[in-house]
Amino acid sequence: MNYRLLFSVAAGLSLLPCLLPVAEAYDLDAGRQTYSTNCVACHGVSGRADADSPVVEALGVMPADFSDALFNSREPAGDWEMVIKYGGYALGLAEQMPAHGEALSDEDIQNVTAYVKSMVDTSAYPPGEMNLFLPIRTKKAFPEDEYVYKGRFTNQDGEDAWKNVLEFEKRVGKRGQLIVELVHESEGDVSELTEAEVGYKQALSFSDTHVLSGAAVVAVPIEADGDGELQTYLAYGQILSPSWIFQSSLRLKFPFEGADDGSAELAGIVHWVHSPWPRRVFPGLELVAEQPFRSSNGDLEWAAMPQVRIGLTRGGHVALNLGVEVPLSDQAWDERVYVTLLWDFADGSFFQGW
Ligand code: HEC
Repeated sequence: MNYRLLFSVAAGLSLLPCLLPVAEAYDLDAGRQTYSTNCVACHGVSGRADADSPVVEALGVMPADFSDALFNSREPAGDWEMVIKYGGYALGLAEQMPAHGEALSDEDIQNVTAYVKSMVDTSAYPPGEMNLFLPIRTKKAFPEDEYVYKGRFTNQDGEDAWKNVLEFEKRVGKRGQLIVELVHESEGDVSELTEAEVGYKQALSFSDTHVLSGAAVVAVPIEADGDGELQTYLAYGQILSPSWIFQSSLRLKFPFEGADDGSAELAGIVHWVHSPWPRRVFPGLELVAEQPFRSSNGDLEWAAMPQVRIGLTRGGHVALNLGVEVPLSDQAWDERVYVTLLWDFADGSFFQGW
């Protein structure tokens, strides 16, 4: 296994878009009709609720503004269809948003969702459909607002080790995202804040079914030895079918002490999205291969990581990821277990919707 293999895998991935389902066409006029009859009183003609209207005042919560392009783009249409059908409460939002599943057919709901989505031009923003599940190692392409805790437990000869990472990711502008990370490691008596990472990610290309981003991250040591490193990556997300999603990333690590002591990591994951309800357990299988640039720095290491994504809140904006790493090449440890807790803070406070 070598670079040729890494790059043929990458080339194969780039062919995936050809296999894709074509987006359905919705009836926007029918959607507008449904909207004027059923939604306008609370959500307003333009999609922005009128704060002075007695109906809106009586609600006690302000419906979100559909005419805000960032907000409108970042919420997947499928999630909105669920909210419209089953009501706000069922998806962790306010119960003042009524369920329309009795009054409206699924087709009406799809049309009115498409109409609401068309209220503002969101073509410059990556669509929320592409905000796919966070994998363990594969980098995510969608720019978002998120706090993430990642824990990795390593069972090995001698003292077991923990690595804890706290990440803060903040959407910047139409396609960008700021990344800040703090890494803590402990092994036996040694427990230190090893490094801080700061970076930026930008969506380079996207559609309703794919997103490709590029990122650069600088890691600086805090208590650990060394000069730190520069990491760059390309991250790709793809909706393969209504129930399968695929993500992949190619990451290059360049230590400041000597760039050719770095490595290339190719990772990919497939998740089975078997339900539109976010509070479910979604299995995924991830493969990771890491190759040092110089063969004197070791051989290719690769591993499989079966994992599950567990939606904790009704809307799934707080979720857990559990996984194990199964080595497919020689390595120095016995087992590794991963725990990730994430909170998508654009979708509400941590305590909302449990
Ligand atoms: C009785 C008032 C009322 C009616 C009628 C109503 N909504 Fe809502 N809707 C709300 C409120 C209030 C919220 C905000 C819930 C929250 O943020 O917790 C909301 C939220 C939503 C959301 C979720 C937005 C988000 O935060 O992700 C969508 C989508 C939506 N409404 C669409 C519709 C559509 C389409 C109709 C008509 C078929 C409709 N609503 C009718 C009050 C209403």
